[in-house]
Amino acid sequence: MYKIKPKTLFIGKNVIYLPSCHSTNDIAAEIIQKGEAYDGTVVITSHQTAGRGQRGNLWEALPDQNLTFSIILKPSFILPINQFQLNIAISLGINDFLQSFLLPDTRIKWPNDIYVQNKKLGGVLIESSLIGSKLNHSIVGIGLNINQLTFENPNATSLAQLTTKQFPDLSSLLEKLLETIEKRYIQLRQGETANQRTDYLRRLFRINEWHQFIVKEKSIEAKICGISPYGLLLLEHPLGEQFAYDLKEITYVL
Ligand code: BTN
Repeated sequence: MYKIKPKTLFIGKNVIYLPSCHSTNDIAAEIIQKGEAYDGTVVITSHQTAGRGQRGNLWEALPDQNLTFSIILKPSFILPINQFQLNIAISLGINDFLQSFLLPDTRIKWPNDIYVQNKKLGGVLIESSLIGSKLNHSIVGIGLNINQLTFENPNATSLAQLTTKQFPDLSSLLEKLLETIEKRYIQLRQGETANQRTDYLRRLFRINEWHQFIVKEKSIEAKICGISPYGLLLLEHPLGEQFAYDLKEITYVL
């Protein structure tokens, strides 16, 4: 059960709690379909049985140990072509929240995974619908590993693993997280996209370092040199050429 009173203007003022559900993103989509969605509604569950990740992956989360929720937003001020700005604002909001835990170095792995020391602490799945040339609704699904200590995925980690503490009060973590997310969302609404982009690039996992990536089933050495205006990953290859990749085209070698 989540009882929260976040210090926000609208995000998390309406909370729909389900003890168990398949995917909070799917429940959020049903609420939108029924025309019952308020801006900032949070759908949260203690036990997500079929959580969805990016690229069709499953999101693993043991019951009662983690944060798995979706925020319904109505970002009609963002042109569909600029939707990546929402990814930037949300991942910065999560990153800001994590600053209070004094973790070694929290990074945003493009497009919006949260990484600490080469391991994934959280993930974001944003699903948006359009009406004409405007974003109608965005469902911002967030999974953040909190108290879980063992994972099937060897690349996953949690706050408990990283800090060797447990965090029994998930409601208060959720409140704080919604507050930092709303701050960044409001900044975005006020047009602070350039500053947010700079903050995002500062936090970007492996920026300006040479690493291995898999492209078209081949391993290549390349350096992340930025993000295109529309959110593609820009890589510099050893001979100096730059190429832009979308999520389906590239895999990091961790
Ligand atoms: C990823 O990194 O692949 C994104 C993971 C997103 C998981 C969250 S958990 C809450 C919400 N509901 C879902 O089904 N997925 C997102």
